[in-house]
This record gives sequence, structure tokens and C-alpha cells, in this order.
Amino acid sequence: MTHRRPLIAGNWKMHQNVAATSALIEGLLAEDLGGEVDAVVCPPFTSLPHAAMLLTGSKIGLGAQNCHWENSGAFTGEIAPAMLVELGIQWVIVGHSERRTIFGESDITAARRAKAAQEAGLAVIYCVGETLEQRQAEKTFSILETQMAGVADLDPTKLVVAYEPVWAIGTGQTATADQAQEAHAFLRRRLEGFFSSDADALRILYGGSMKPGNAAELVGMPDVDGGLIGGASLDVGSFSAIIRASADCAVGD
Ligand code: PGA
Repeated sequence: MTHRRPLIAGNWKMHQNVAATSALIEGLLAEDLGGEVDAVVCPPFTSLPHAAMLLTGSKIGLGAQNCHWENSGAFTGEIAPAMLVELGIQWVIVGHSERRTIFGESDITAARRAKAAQEAGLAVIYCVGETLEQRQAEKTFSILETQMAGVADLDPTKLVVAYEPVWAIGTGQTATADQAQEAHAFLRRRLEGFFSSDADALRILYGGSMKPGNAAELVGMPDVDGGLIGGASLDVGSFSAIIRASADCAVGD
């Protein structure tokens, strides 16, 4: 099995203005974040230029929370992938469940955004996950299969998949390690179908109420390669503790 270096990405959502971004990043830069782990923060758009400046030369990567599929044009309120690249940003989150449920994101538009982002040079964190209703109706795997369809067209070398069960996001109700592993193993099989042996190196993150206290158990599962962290990424102590807890959890040879 390929060694997959864990990745912990902080999704700051619509939190952290420029001043709060400075404080959080300066706090993280002062922490020992452990060796065998990658860390990324995804502030809101208006904080990205300042974050890019603060993170230059550091080990912490920088991501945006969304992007459009065109590189310019009459798309009021949208941000082009090339505009993110211009700021030195390396990552973008696509298809988050809040984009899907609140802002009408579909599997088709998520796939278009992801493709354009990769073509501009960004690495994509592609989010999938079922609602509680879908899980209770035993539709988890069919939903994940549908949501993953657009991934087939993407470049696996610039792709991370995030499994975020909607019922676990911001609720404090984390998936159990076994529930996460079961979904991640399913997603890995889909990725193998798309990318054959390249799927082995691809990281699949868990997201949904991940905290310092459950990170090691989750990331210790064979197919859980890190986390996409919302609430707990807004605090230096808890985010850095999750990063450190994950550093020793790489599964592989
Ligand atoms: P949470 O959010 O960690 O606050 O549950 C995760 C996410 O939405 O990415």
C-alpha cells in the first residue's frame, strides 16, 4: 500500500476577517505542527491576500472555499481560478455541502468548478456526503456514487476527496471511525474504478465535527487520510492539536 501523508485542511467558512486571520495564522505559525503531515487553511476570499503574504515560505498551504469554472466573464459575485492562482493559492474546496444545500450547487457545477480549478493549477478538495435522511433510508452509497461521477474527469494528482456526512457537520455528532472507514473504502473503490492504481495514492479526508479528541482514531483508519475541519480549525490550540494527532497516523508501508 502507498504511504499517504495525512492532510489536515481548515475550512474557515464565513469566519475570520483580515484582523482575525492574522491572529489565527500567526498563532499557527508559532506552533510545532509535527513532521509527517500537511496542513492547509482556507480563509474567506477577502482574507486570502493577507493570508498569502503571512504564509509565504511557511509549511502551511493556502486554499479558497470555492471558485468559478470560467477564467473571466460576466459572472457577478464569482471568483475565477486564475485569480486565486495569482495570489499564490494552491488549493480550493469544491462542492461543500453548504454550497450544495444553501446555494444550489449541483454535481454538474461542482465537477465543472473542479475541472477548471485543476486546469488553472489548483489542487481540489472535492466534497461529498449524505444527509441524515439519506443515511437512514440506506442510500449513502448510491448518493456517494452519484456525487463522485464528476470526479472521473479530474486529474488524480491534483485531487483530494473529502467525505463529509452532512449530519456530522457542525453538529458535534462525529461519524464513528467504522462509519468513516466504510464510506472511505467505498470512495476508494470508486476512485480505483476511475484511476486504477493511482487511486492508492489519493487522499480521502473525513469532515464533520473532527476534534483533537477524535482525530487520531479517525485518521488511524486505513482509508482516512486526514480531515477537513470547520469549527475546530478556528482555534489555534484545537487545530494544531488535530494536526499533531494526525502526524503519527499515516497508514502504509
Ligand atoms: P465542522 O465542519 O468541523 O464544523 O463539522 C466541517 C466542514 O464543514 O468542512
